Amino acid sequence: MSASAFPLHTAIVMDGNGRWATARGRPRIFGHRAGASAVRRTVEAARHLGLPVLTLFAFSSDNWERPRTEVSALFVLFREFLEAETARCRDEGIRLEIIGRRDRLPARVLQAVERAEAMTAASSAMRLRVAVDYSAREAIAAAAHRLSPTSRAPRDDLARLIGGPDVDLLIRTGGEQRLSDFLLWEAAYAELVFLDVPWPEFGRDHLEGALHEFARRQRRFGRIAAAV
Ligand code: FPP
Repeated sequence: MSASAFPLHTAIVMDGNGRWATARGRPRIFGHRAGASAVRRTVEAARHLGLPVLTLFAFSSDNWERPRTEVSALFVLFREFLEAETARCRDEGIRLEIIGRRDRLPARVLQAVERAEAMTAASSAMRLRVAVDYSAREAIAAAAHRLSPTSRAPRDDLARLIGGPDVDLLIRTGGEQRLSDFLLWEAAYAELVFLDVPWPEFGRDHLEGALHEFARRQRRFGRIAAAV
């Protein structure tokens, strides 16, 4: 657990693409395309601000229930992002990791994911984790399934099997205030920042605002102030 004024692990639920597009009389995919630009902006800002770990929620396992055309368009955007940004990530010292199920990803997306991870494996300035076909409940259940019944430290072993670092700061754009099955274990003591801004409009100023808000919070991890 970190009580530092700067978050080691920042996670973002990127919400509001569809409503942003609809409000402009445009199809939802227009919002997702603008959302992909916001991803580029945000990653660049995070790198320059020195965030060590950034996790972005790009596609939840429940998003498979959306219309097929929207799902396909999201995977095209995701593949285009990987194909266009991998070399730049490597040059900027950003290590790309995908979290979530891989067995249902379209073959070309999986190929782009594996290539991006291999090409950036040696980068160490920042970790960029993108959650795709991700469900926190499923990640916890899968780890519990692998946990040995004779484990002497089940909580630590489960945390290791789940794998992600604890989240310090969790931002959700788009005005809703919920976690939507994102990093439920890792966010046990995350500071939550909910913003009314739709994801396509998110940028460096919003990220810096959330970091300032985080620095103002007093984190006690269940203890009393004097003990932290
Ligand atoms: C939530 O907004 C957003 C998504 C389900 C997709 C997020 C995808 C991107 C930001 C673009 C592609 C990603 C990468 C990593 C390049 P919503 O559609 O639920 O919006 P709504 O609540 O307004 O309908």
